[in-house]
Amino acid sequence: MLWQTFYSLLLLSLLFRCTGDESLPEVTDSENSPMDKREREALYTAIQGFVGDSWNGSDLYPDPCGWSPIQGVSCDIYNDLWYVTDLSLGLIHTNSLACSSSLEIRPELFELKHLRSLSFFNCFISPTVVAKEEWINFASNLESLEFRSNPGLIGKLPETFGNLTKLKSLVVLENGFSGELPASICNLKSLKRMAFAANSFKGMIPNCFNKLKELLILDLSRNSFSGSLPSSVGDLVSLLKLDLSNNLLQGNIPQEIGSLKNLTLLDLRNNRFSGGLSNNIEKIQSLTELMLSGNPMSEAMKGIKWEKMENLVILDVSNMGLRGEIPTGLTNLKRLRFLGLNDNNLTGSVPSEKLEALPCLGSLYINGNNLTGELRFSNKFYEKMGGRFKASKNPNLCLPFEMVMSESHKHLRPLGVKPCT
Ligand SMILES: *[C@@H]1O[C@H](CO)[C@@H](O)[C@H](O)[C@H]1NC(C)=O
Ligand SMILES: *[C@@H]1O[C@H](CO)[C@@H](O)[C@H](O)[C@H]1NC(C)=O
Ligand SMILES: *[C@@H]1O[C@H](CO)[C@@H](O)[C@H](O)[C@H]1NC(C)=O
Ligand SMILES: *[C@@H]1O[C@H](CO)[C@@H](O)[C@H](O)[C@H]1NC(C)=O
Ligand SMILES: *[C@@H]1O[C@H](CO)[C@@H](O)[C@H](O)[C@H]1NC(C)=O
Repeated sequence: MLWQTFYSLLLLSLLFRCTGDESLPEVTDSENSPMDKREREALYTAIQGFVGDSWNGSDLYPDPCGWSPIQGVSCDIYNDLWYVTDLSLGLIHTNSLACSSSLEIRPELFELKHLRSLSFFNCFISPTVVAKEEWINFASNLESLEFRSNPGLIGKLPETFGNLTKLKSLVVLENGFSGELPASICNLKSLKRMAFAANSFKGMIPNCFNKLKELLILDLSRNSFSGSLPSSVGDLVSLLKLDLSNNLLQGNIPQEIGSLKNLTLLDLRNNRFSGGLSNNIEKIQSLTELMLSGNPMSEAMKGIKWEKMENLVILDVSNMGLRGEIPTGLTNLKRLRFLGLNDNNLTGSVPSEKLEALPCLGSLYINGNNLTGELRFSNKFYEKMGGRFKASKNPNLCLPFEMVMSESHKHLRPLGVKPCT
């Protein structure tokens, strides 16, 4: 009896397997894929608000989660009913829903409570302020919210975004948002990516990094953030990429940055950071890209054992008022592809042979310094580097006699370096 039951169960499971996914009857009409009527109407009305009144959803897409899908709309089944889970507006693909110039965010959008992902690309052109109402409706499901390239989106970021505690990704890139970031964004504890680049945000960076332990990517670049970088940045223990470039940040780079053990990119270019660089930076063994260019940190290279940062691929320390000699530790960085030392006040000789020995080096800029002596790179090196080697504007640097004499290699001679006398 027991055996029989087992056998029939086995048979049943085999049968079930054989009639698996691929042979399931195609869901071809709305009767097989019922969609909550209110959900459907809300979808039509919300989309119509974005793409214009001439768009007639019920006419064109009678079964938006079934046989007449709308580009940019995805659905999923909850309790045997279809609900909209993804909505992306704007020209992402040639056939996606383009936004009209007179668009509006209709309240019906906030009835789509099962949304997991909502994105707007190149949608808002004329000035629009995002209302702060109703975002809480998305609190239990929304994981990704994106506004990309919407120059018309102005005003502050609604503080009610802080209600979206399930958010994993908040991307607010290349819009017209301004003002300070609402402190409520600190409530977004699940966030893995926070990207606010290229808006007009200003004020201090919210000092609540201890609440964002899951964060992998923090990109606040190309805004007008000011003040100092809080030392709590060291609490972002999961961080892989930190991009604060092109802001007005000042003060020292906190030494707590050394706690970011998994960091691969640190881009602080074009701020007003000053002082030295803590040798805690050596502790970030995972670092592959370090960009500090355009900060008045004349002592940045001092006291750092550069040879320890053996994973560095890109090092840009140009235009920082750097003094002293080119640190020899740099010539041990076997993975280095890009080395920008230009427009500083570096003195001493160029360790040509050692730099040439770096197997990956493809760009080397030492122009605009006060380097002295002979440039002793081989013709092969100049050939490999082409325009990605610059040494001009070093009044006391010169090209050795042999290099100047060989007429056949004339085209390889680095520009703006005079012959040695
Ligand atoms: C959309 O089309 C349907 C059917 O043709 C029509 O009944 C309805 O009034 C139209 N709705 C809008 C908003 O134009
Ligand atoms: C939603 O956000 C507002 C504004 O930050 C806040 O006052 C309110 O307490 C939040 N509600 C919940 C349930 O978190
Ligand atoms: C750092 O990366 C390693 C390897 O990917 C991972 O196991 C570890 O959990 C990460 N550390 C943190 C704090 O996220
Ligand atoms: C470079 O350093 C020298 C010597 O310390 C100083 O006289 C000069 O002003 C500095 N130049 C720049 C551009 O910082
Ligand atoms: C360049 O360095 C020399 C010493 O090597 C110093 O005399 C000179 O002032 C420096 N020039 C500039 C422009 O910093």
